[in-house]
Amino acid sequence: MTVHIGAEKGDFAETVLMPGDPYRAKWAAETFLSDVRLVNEVRGMLGFTGTWNGHRVSIQGSGMGMPSLSIYANELIRDFDAQTLIRIGSCGGMQPHVKVRDVIIAMSAASVNTPSSTIFKDVNFAPTADWSLTRNAVQAAEAQGLTPHVGGIYSSDVFYDERPDLNEQMVRHGILGVEMEAAELYTLAARYQRRALAVLTVSDHLQTGEALPSEDRERSFGEMVEIALAAAFA
Ligand code: ADE
Repeated sequence: MTVHIGAEKGDFAETVLMPGDPYRAKWAAETFLSDVRLVNEVRGMLGFTGTWNGHRVSIQGSGMGMPSLSIYANELIRDFDAQTLIRIGSCGGMQPHVKVRDVIIAMSAASVNTPSSTIFKDVNFAPTADWSLTRNAVQAAEAQGLTPHVGGIYSSDVFYDERPDLNEQMVRHGILGVEMEAAELYTLAARYQRRALAVLTVSDHLQTGEALPSEDRERSFGEMVEIALAAAFA
């Protein structure tokens, strides 16, 4: 039991997929895993453990934003011994060649601030994905017939951003998409020598204003879950 996770030691697998939305955790567990068991429901932040192709795996909601993800990732790593943590979520597209529905595999995550920023003092730490997971995810996406974008993303601390100039700088510097969690996940993984990756679907586009229709969201989300599972156990 931890402050935010009402599970026993051993209830979680070493591999944890982390969608922001707890209902997506439920959907993914029920759709892709066998022998599924609910292992956390504190504050409605649902977590499940089951098996995929014989591998034990958990799917735990992270909530939205880095402060929320930081709570769950810290407790999963420090108290439940999570070794591989893969964010599966949505992002806003930031480049003209990045289209709604596309998959982004995030090598690095820029940020203004993360919950960890202050410990680095003057250093701008570069949160980076695990290489083996990155490579495996690219191969898994290609095996599904997808062509993922692989590169840097931006983990924003604001959804309704009043600083349009910041997004412009990200676009200028080739950032593929914006979301709100990966930079802190990568930082925690580095701190505790764990593996982390973010696999993202482009749900909306900052330049075109296009947004993924709700009927398409489930299919796109399913592709991400399959990529993440295949990458974790390759
Ligand atoms: N997640 C999905 N779309 C996003 C956006 N436009 N900004 C931040 N996070 C997002």
